Amino acid sequence: MLMASIKRAFLDWLHRHKAPLSDTEKTLASPDESIKVKISLRQGHLSYSVFKNEATILRDSKLGFKIKGTEALGDYLSVVRTTEKDVDETWETVWGEEHFITNNYNELALYLSETTKANRLFTIRFRAFNNGVAFRYELPPQPAFSRVEIEDELTEFNVDLNSEAWQIPAYQPDRYEYNYEKKPVYELTKSVHTPLTIALKNKYYISIHEAALYNYGEMTIKLDEWKALKSDITPLSDGIKARVELPFNTPWRMIMIANSPIGLTKNHMMLNLNDPPTEDFSWVKPIKFLGIWWAMYVGEWTWASGMRHGASTKHAIEYIDACRKLGIKGLLLEGWNDGWDGDWLLNGKTTDFIHPQPDCDLPGIAEYARAAGVELVGHHETVGFVDNYEAQLEASYKYYTDLGIHYIKPGYAGSMMSIQGKREYHHSQLGVLHYQKALELAAKYRICLDVHEPIKGTGIERTYPNLLTREGARGQEYEGGAIGPSHACILPFTRLLSGPMDYTPGIFDITNATKRLSSTLARQLAYFVTIPSGMQMAADRPRFYEEVNPKAFKFIRDVPVNWETALPIMGSIGEYYVVARKERNGPNWFIGGVTNEDPHKVRIQFDFLDEGEYVIEVYRDHETAHYRDNPLAISIESTTITKKNFIDIWMAPGGGFAASVKKRQ
Ligand code: NOJ
Repeated sequence: MLMASIKRAFLDWLHRHKAPLSDTEKTLASPDESIKVKISLRQGHLSYSVFKNEATILRDSKLGFKIKGTEALGDYLSVVRTTEKDVDETWETVWGEEHFITNNYNELALYLSETTKANRLFTIRFRAFNNGVAFRYELPPQPAFSRVEIEDELTEFNVDLNSEAWQIPAYQPDRYEYNYEKKPVYELTKSVHTPLTIALKNKYYISIHEAALYNYGEMTIKLDEWKALKSDITPLSDGIKARVELPFNTPWRMIMIANSPIGLTKNHMMLNLNDPPTEDFSWVKPIKFLGIWWAMYVGEWTWASGMRHGASTKHAIEYIDACRKLGIKGLLLEGWNDGWDGDWLLNGKTTDFIHPQPDCDLPGIAEYARAAGVELVGHHETVGFVDNYEAQLEASYKYYTDLGIHYIKPGYAGSMMSIQGKREYHHSQLGVLHYQKALELAAKYRICLDVHEPIKGTGIERTYPNLLTREGARGQEYEGGAIGPSHACILPFTRLLSGPMDYTPGIFDITNATKRLSSTLARQLAYFVTIPSGMQMAADRPRFYEEVNPKAFKFIRDVPVNWETALPIMGSIGEYYVVARKERNGPNWFIGGVTNEDPHKVRIQFDFLDEGEYVIEVYRDHETAHYRDNPLAISIESTTITKKNFIDIWMAPGGGFAASVKKRQ
């Protein structure tokens, strides 16, 4: 009753204040005035354009929706009122690449009403940051409709069509797991995923992405028949993009903007556009872990039961002992449960998440791990059979927590999800809702997640810090031919803009005949810095750390998983990338660099260090190293430096380097 009368009073107010249909243009500038958004209402049509230092980033781009059974919402509009807001605040993260993040933007919200009989209302809220622009649609409750079926979102991002984009295709069986291809924007006639990173002709770099994706289809992007670069929201199986109750806010659409590729890699808009957590998440602890895993990939062990079953009690005890010896806190156990026999990709309907295979005494293993101070990382391969998984979800979480297991790697292999008896895209609204349900329930059980075949990152780990990492791109499991050295030089400028990634670094058995890596040994160490992850796997079998190069393994033991700040040093998309990171709450720095098939020489200036002496340990490619024929050749040297020094480092073809820079006490 009360709600209804408030609603009515609000609508009366809107009608009284409604302006006549007239052209309006509003400009919103970033706090440093370098970025401007122009929001226009011309003859009732809503659009926006974006500029940086007078250069055009986005030409006039349409805004609006198509709602089932009605005319498009975005035409015949008038501005009812506007509000403005300036924000400049700093907040503390629970974990991550930065300890403290500044949130500084100017906001302009336009409250709009249709001038037609339908008289629908919506708000478009824009935020201009010093490094980008974001906006979202807000649909308030209103008499004309309380529940809507969104047929299309009309948002455009009209860049110069001759710009070049690094893209992976959407709606494909391997989800986000494709090699990036650089293409002119005029060729993006099939949908591609975001972050969509684009080198504009005017030399600026942008990445189009979204933040806070909840209860809505993921935004992919494609060039439509009118040559507009348009949002293409992932449909449900019946073609509807989302069914929502009002009030409803869409995810934020964002355009990150930088002068250079490396400038794109430090942009916190996405996290800033997400809400702070509403509960205490101080129990969340980032972790490094070994895994009963790569042995399956190289064919030594199997997920399936039998003589070579990987996740047996015997192997688990050996790996827990290895964790202790190597100084690694966690251990992943994949394939411990029923469901892996036969073609496991077909078993998802009946996979069991509560009963171990006969040779796996999970309670006994958990007890042994507890006594050894090792955290077990549980595993759930759902194969996308959401109905089967959700039926066991709470019981399976409870089973783990009763055993003292607080980390899970869930997986959603398979080309589609099976939800409510239908085949849906992983990145459809129903997929998004499932991932969210699993995450929220995990938070309730104080479980941290490393989601494979996930929904892409949109910064929700700010609100749910128990989402420590996800896969969501080709990782090292694609080694052995399907990825080359340039891949890891593209990720920092594309996929990693959407948050942490489990790339499964640290393979020392590089020359394995089944899974031959396109990498040198030094590069395997670099990944621990270039690809941040709240759960970081030392992915090889432990014996290889001892057999191949225990001195190189020292870097994996030393490198933190939680950071104070990041200092991107240099990078060129697909060619090379170097970043320094400072450990959280400590004085030490760690540096990582990777290059593509070409060698690359970098000079690191240490002027970012504090006063005083530091001991630097450099793990670099030996001058004879090459990813093809001499991948294990590594030089490890230690020396003392101060902030006045620099060092030159050569990265071999397909190589890289890592360095720890520790303050002398
Ligand atoms: C694909 C995941 O990416 C991989 O890590 C996992 O081992 C398999 N699915 C099996 O669950």
